[in-house]
Amino acid sequence: MADKPFLTDIKTLRERARKHIEQGAVTEGYTADRETVIKILNEALATEIVCVLRYKRHYFMASGIHAEGVAAEFLEHANDEQGHADLIAARIVQLGGEPNFNPEGLLMRSHAEYVEGGSLAEMIKEDLVAERIAIDSYRDMIQYLGNDDPTTRRMLEGILAVEEEHADDLVSLLGEVS
Ligand SMILES: [Fe+2]
Ligand SMILES: [Fe+2]
Repeated sequence: MADKPFLTDIKTLRERARKHIEQGAVTEGYTADRETVIKILNEALATEIVCVLRYKRHYFMASGIHAEGVAAEFLEHANDEQGHADLIAARIVQLGGEPNFNPEGLLMRSHAEYVEGGSLAEMIKEDLVAERIAIDSYRDMIQYLGNDDPTTRRMLEGILAVEEEHADDLVSLLGEVS
């Protein structure tokens, strides 16, 4: 590591940038395994979509004396997950891949499950479990990426922070409801 120069010299940088310009943001300096990154991002995309669907179901089905506040929280989370799905899809395209929105196999690709839940408490519990799955899988992805794809990593770090907030919100809600 000691004799490794910190920066690529300007001539090399300029030469490399001229090659494969059709690859856009993906330059020769991109050291991650692009195919694998696209694959794991598509799994994350499926996870987010399943989470949107589950939160929407819970939002519309929430009933009982605590329902109003909880439903509002479900809706907020659904919108956040939709935002995550959009970010991930855009990044997949930027990396030269194709976002997989195919409903067929969606649940197989998703890390989180789709559980309808009966009572309000059950819904909150299932959402909490899903958030905890998302938290662990995002943390794994971030570790996998390391310094090979800082842009994707930063995006995932931002999403991870929101999933942690979601989990925290749900724990509080569970306390209020039960
Ligand atoms: Fe999310
Ligand atoms: Fe979440």
